Amino acid sequence: MIKVITYGTFDLFHEGHYRLLERAKALGDYLIVGVTTEAYDLTRGKLNVVDNLMTRIENVRKTGFADEIIIEESSGQKFSDIKKYGIDIFTVGSDWIGTFDYLKDYCKVVYLERTKNISSTMLREKNRPIRRIGIIGNGRIAERFVPEAKLVSGVSTQGVYNPHKESAIRFAQKWEIEAYTDLEDFFSAIDVVYIASPHETHYEYIKTSLKHGKHVLCEKPMVLRKEQAEELLGYAKEQGLVLLEGIKTAYCPGFHKLLSIACSGTIGNIRNVEACFTKLEKYGTRELTNHVYGGSFTELGSYVLLPILKLFGTDYREIRFDTIRGEGGLDLFTRASLVYPVGIATATCGLGVKSDGRLLIAGTKGYIVVEAPWWKTAYFEVRYEDADRIDRYSECFLGDGLRYEISHFLSMVNEQDKDHFKLTGRESVALAGAMEKFMEAEKRTHENLGTPGMQSEIS
Ligand code: CTP
Repeated sequence: MIKVITYGTFDLFHEGHYRLLERAKALGDYLIVGVTTEAYDLTRGKLNVVDNLMTRIENVRKTGFADEIIIEESSGQKFSDIKKYGIDIFTVGSDWIGTFDYLKDYCKVVYLERTKNISSTMLREKNRPIRRIGIIGNGRIAERFVPEAKLVSGVSTQGVYNPHKESAIRFAQKWEIEAYTDLEDFFSAIDVVYIASPHETHYEYIKTSLKHGKHVLCEKPMVLRKEQAEELLGYAKEQGLVLLEGIKTAYCPGFHKLLSIACSGTIGNIRNVEACFTKLEKYGTRELTNHVYGGSFTELGSYVLLPILKLFGTDYREIRFDTIRGEGGLDLFTRASLVYPVGIATATCGLGVKSDGRLLIAGTKGYIVVEAPWWKTAYFEVRYEDADRIDRYSECFLGDGLRYEISHFLSMVNEQDKDHFKLTGRESVALAGAMEKFMEAEKRTHENLGTPGMQSEIS
């Protein structure tokens, strides 16, 4: 019996796929088809796959050509599948010519001619309009956002709004987009909004954007008060609009793998989470000069709280903050300690004190360590009482990682992804709640110290 194997995403199943499977089957007696998982597609930069895995498998099955369907989860799998299933022929379309020649030592490799003028990419573009993104605010993160957005199909960056005309024009010229200083003009030219302005302006910009019927992706921290988060998320829901908080870690494939391993029981029951992220900032930046909204916790707190909320949930019993202060009482380093019914956690961040940025998840059977930059999760280890036993996991993290967040936002806008599990509204509300508690504690401290932060607008 001649065994043949082929692989693909088979998204928006089309004639090219059908013809490939038909000819693959004709090469032998038994055909195995490997269908890629979403996580694997993300890691190889294939963003915006429309159909979920079950649909794609079902479409392959319906052709009747596959004798067996397996899932493809990683790049090294082809080699091991060939051995495991005793494969005689490996085949894929001619767009891959040469790529799989390395398998020739183990089986015959056949490149079948690709069907002309059809592809999933073409169908995706035909079926969906390109969403024009408008950026509000053009700081450092917006500089990273534009090139990352270019890598996501289905979106184009149309323009930037900034009330400071020169700044908007400079940014627009650099990225060859439009500059707007009038919000009405801006909203009439775009479909979705990315907010990258200073933290304290987020609430108003989100509200205005939603009122103009725009879906919103907003940089973290989305807002600094729980009530505001609830109000905005509730309003977005009522209007059928997407409001998503941009914490890039939440959307990257490695972080998902980490969460699934942590929750799988491998390390037993999780009892302690420690997350630390420090980034020394140059003096003079907004983060180190704004005494009300600057400082390390408002800047980095969302990252370090994220794994804690993901693993322990949003209902902590207690949260307490300890801060090392610089000039004017500014928060240079903060540790938030959280107490949950089932465990404890610390979220540490710093802009003026450097520490070992790592994520540690401790359980009753073992622990997980992710070294810096764990917020761009690419590699982690699971360790046990027996120090010789270490399980190692790795996952791709491409570029600045914003592409995962943009791609997820777009899937939600296009209603392909109704699954908000990557960062739920409830989690964004909890993050805003923690920020609010921090700001309140800061206000009290500044009042006692007589330092500038006492003008905080938190009442
Ligand atoms: N294929 C083909 N003819 C086409 C499109 C795809 O023979 N017109 C083959 C590919 O070469 C591959 C298999 O079908 O062996 C699965 O391809 P996949 O990447 O899922 O489909 P594409 O349409 O190429 O997807 P995309 O546009 O997202 O790259």
